[in-house]
Amino acid sequence: MQKIKNICCIGAGYVGGPTMAVIAQKCPDINVTVVDINEQRINSWNDPDFSKIPIYEPGLADVVKDSRDRNLFFSTDVDAAIEKADIIFISVNTPTKTYGIGKGMAADLKWIELCARQIARVSVTDKIVVEKSTLPVRTANALKSILENTGNGVKFQILSNPEFLAEGTAVADLMAPDRVLIGGDVATKEGRTAIQTLVDIYANWVDKDRILTTNVWSSELSKLTANAFLAQRVSSINAMSELCEKTGADVNEVARAIGMDSRIGSKFLKSSVGFGGSCFQKDILNLVYISKSLGLNEVADYWEQVVIMNDHQKNRFAANIVKTLFNTVSGKKITFLGWAFKKDTNDTRESAAIHVADFLLKEHANIVVYDPKVTADQIYKDLDYLEGNDLETIKKLLTVETDPYKACENSHAIAVLTEWDEFKTYNWQSIYDNMLKPASVFDGRNILDLDKLKAIGFNVDGIGKP
Ligand code: NAD
Ligand code: UGA
Repeated sequence: MQKIKNICCIGAGYVGGPTMAVIAQKCPDINVTVVDINEQRINSWNDPDFSKIPIYEPGLADVVKDSRDRNLFFSTDVDAAIEKADIIFISVNTPTKTYGIGKGMAADLKWIELCARQIARVSVTDKIVVEKSTLPVRTANALKSILENTGNGVKFQILSNPEFLAEGTAVADLMAPDRVLIGGDVATKEGRTAIQTLVDIYANWVDKDRILTTNVWSSELSKLTANAFLAQRVSSINAMSELCEKTGADVNEVARAIGMDSRIGSKFLKSSVGFGGSCFQKDILNLVYISKSLGLNEVADYWEQVVIMNDHQKNRFAANIVKTLFNTVSGKKITFLGWAFKKDTNDTRESAAIHVADFLLKEHANIVVYDPKVTADQIYKDLDYLEGNDLETIKKLLTVETDPYKACENSHAIAVLTEWDEFKTYNWQSIYDNMLKPASVFDGRNILDLDKLKAIGFNVDGIGKP
């Protein structure tokens, strides 16, 4: 078996950074170099002040501190890291295509292809190339073809090792994963050896019975399937939330009742303003695109409904704010508590807050945002990105506060968009006293004690509440 000395990971993002930090901590004999073309991101990973690393994740700064500059390195010198590595993880972004064939559905694989071409050009020794990014099933074929046809005659083994961490719990998920999945060329001896090499790395801290090995296509497709199933649970409970609101049932009670059935399980049944994040929507749309490309229209329609339901949930949350505030929010101040797509992360990609803000800005509302971890810069970037928005006008209508109490002063309504724990412990009486009346709270995460708020005098609205 090959003794692994050097690992390179291309992409220092939400997956590459935390994953490699944990590998470096658990495998002190292996040098791990994380490379990225984004110089600013690499500089932040190397910041002497560990609280300034670019990704906020509970516990991550300590893990990075443990190994950085010992056997964990962050660099922009991609070629040097590739050349030295025995194993190369590709962990670059694979967003939904915004142009050309498959626009709005297919995964954009241009960054993956660039990595493959660079690996082929630079490599002068045999390498194991690992797909860590989430990819359409059968991408390994394309990688193989590029590596074999544009390389220097060295041998490549391609493995699929999708990542299942969730943001906000990335470190805990990486330290004790439900499973590690490794797909490879099980039909050849070289393929099986490559699989075993990666198994041995994870076996430094993961129980062997939690490390699954499969053929490469099962591994690629399992990642898309896992995200589709998880997102489908959220859309399913959100569909029931609307029915609850019309019938007097309470979605939390329904979720608890069904979750106690061990066949259904209690996790991932929290009704919300809608799921966000960089992956659920993109991966389902990718699955829909793949299904359509294979002529499987019913399969495509089935999964597309999960995304349609999610868009509906975000829209109806925003529309309800307008309706409740006497059918107009023009010139009214609405405070957003939370902007991140979930708690304990500074990631805002596809956050429901962006869509709700867009809806309300089109109704000429004045929005004030408070989020404990998201910067004003990021919030404006998120809105600038939306079609038809003009940043100068947005800046007049939407402001960002760093003090939650100040953010709520003189506002007509508060909308909870992220489930940050701190929101539960605010002095809601004092917030009420400083708001315009009638004062409304729209809890898009069902985290607040609505009875207590009602007793203070608030008009309250939760999701799926009678
Ligand atoms: P990200 O955008 O945070 O990071 C990707 C990084 O890759 C960026 O910093 C970018 O500059 C860099 N990059 C792109 N092309 C490059 C190149 N040619 N050379 C060097 N660097 C390059 O993305 P992410 O959230 O880390 O996601 C990465 C992949 O992992 C995606 O496929 C995603 O679907 C998957 N994934 C994400 C999560 C998650 O929670 N974010 C979880 C599991 C899987
Ligand atoms: C998700 C999966 O959980 C990870 O396993 C996967 O690796 C990752 O996608 C990925 O491929 O990127 P993530 O998006 O980071 O992880 O976070 P989740 O905890 O899944 O939450 C996604 C969205 O669903 C959030 O907006 C969250 O608030 C929402 N959600 C989640 C609900 O509204 N209700 C729930 O019960 C659970």
